[in-house]
Amino acid sequence: MTQVDVLLGLQWGDEGKGKIVDVLSPQYDLIARFQGGPNAGHTLEFDGKKFVLNTIPSGIFNEKTMNLIGNGVVIDPIILKRELDNLKAAGHDPVAKGKLVIARKAHLILPTHQLLDAANEQKMGKDKIGSTLKGIGPTYMDKTGRNGLRIGDTTLPDFKDRYNKLVEKHKEILSHYDFEYDLTEKEAAFFEAIEFIKSIPHVDSEHFVNAYLKEGKTVLAEGAQGTLLDVDFGSYPFVTSSNTTTAGACTGLGIAPNKIGHVFGIFKAYCTRVGGGPFPTELENEIGETLRQVGHEFGATTGRARRCGWIDLPALKYAIMLNGVTELIMMKADVLDGFDTIYACTHYEHNGETIDYMPYDIISVKPTPVLKAIEGWKTDVTKVSKVEEIPAKLSEYIAFLEKELEVPVKYLSVGPDRVQTLELN
Ligand code: GDP
Ligand code: IMO
Ligand code: MG
Repeated sequence: MTQVDVLLGLQWGDEGKGKIVDVLSPQYDLIARFQGGPNAGHTLEFDGKKFVLNTIPSGIFNEKTMNLIGNGVVIDPIILKRELDNLKAAGHDPVAKGKLVIARKAHLILPTHQLLDAANEQKMGKDKIGSTLKGIGPTYMDKTGRNGLRIGDTTLPDFKDRYNKLVEKHKEILSHYDFEYDLTEKEAAFFEAIEFIKSIPHVDSEHFVNAYLKEGKTVLAEGAQGTLLDVDFGSYPFVTSSNTTTAGACTGLGIAPNKIGHVFGIFKAYCTRVGGGPFPTELENEIGETLRQVGHEFGATTGRARRCGWIDLPALKYAIMLNGVTELIMMKADVLDGFDTIYACTHYEHNGETIDYMPYDIISVKPTPVLKAIEGWKTDVTKVSKVEEIPAKLSEYIAFLEKELEVPVKYLSVGPDRVQTLELN
């Protein structure tokens, strides 16, 4: 019997999960997405090509790896079909190769869920969450409100009736908003995509994953978003609508907590956030702009400029605790190559106290970060391919983080390409 390893983001998303899942996928028989939906944008680069995946697990470029979209994921059939069409056009067809399966219990994002997301955000005005407008919140609301439609329902004879019943509810809600819409085109695309999705094998993810474990096969659960966007533990209400933490891998795939093995926590050498909400170490100045430009910090899904700031250790410690992280993965070290000095937030000043944890209220009382200055390495690390070539100052930065966070850094990423990855210890 094997266990499920988990890889998830420790910040506000976009840590580089897609890249590392792709790098690690040769070690795994199965890669399984467990939550979120097409709000995710996971970027992979290899052989001079770049792919962005929204719903599909990042193991699909590995010939031998099976990929599962788990029951905890919310699926927009139109987006999933488009992703698969684009992949096919680029010479990758995981469906034809039998390398992709979908959980019957995964919920469907309807076109009206997207409209509800947009209507709600529009009404909130300047207080909006800054959602990706993919219908994520309304779909999870229907799931927990016990109204939702699932992948397995698409094969039932009365699917269309069920769809119409839910859409009527949505239209009723939309009538209370000052919001105009036309569903015709979207609805046609939705039903076309549903037919296509019926050609992908539907499985019970709980049995599927547990059978892999029983056969001694290796499984990696791929997170979406980041720990600080978790609906319970993130910077609520500026969060997404699912559990992005290790616990979410249990409910989002159907595995028991004692089946969790390694937990890889992935973070950038600095920090970013896209959308609204608190961000204690944010740099709204030219340093933030430099991080954005050098790190190409623009959303993979929405193209929005990402907010940038220094690494936040109280937030990382919190994320490590919540997830039971056993190994860390540090990304985008190369983005800091040009800095004489970099900074790490070690504590916050909050309500007249110096604290080293993330307090309940960081929205109405903004914590002031206490920053430690660290000498930069001032070396181009993008071509570093051996551990011995890592500049001493970068090794010192990593050692400092390991001491503070009490977890070893196992991998270091020095560029977006698959090959720009070093295994440390
Ligand atoms: P994800 O959502 O966690 O998969 O991350 P995204 O794909 O949204 O964002 C990460 C971005 O950083 C992508 O554009 C990656 O190609 C890029 N990236 C990943 N690792 C590195 C790295 O080590 N250095 C640099 N410069 N870019 C990286
Ligand atoms: P990956 O998997 C970064 C953010 C949105 C918004 C909030 C709620 O690529 O790391 P939602 O559409 O989920 O209702 O939006 O969450 N958000 C992300 N930020 N990376 C993501 O995914 C995100 N998915 C959602 O910007 O602030
Ligand atoms: Mg992303």
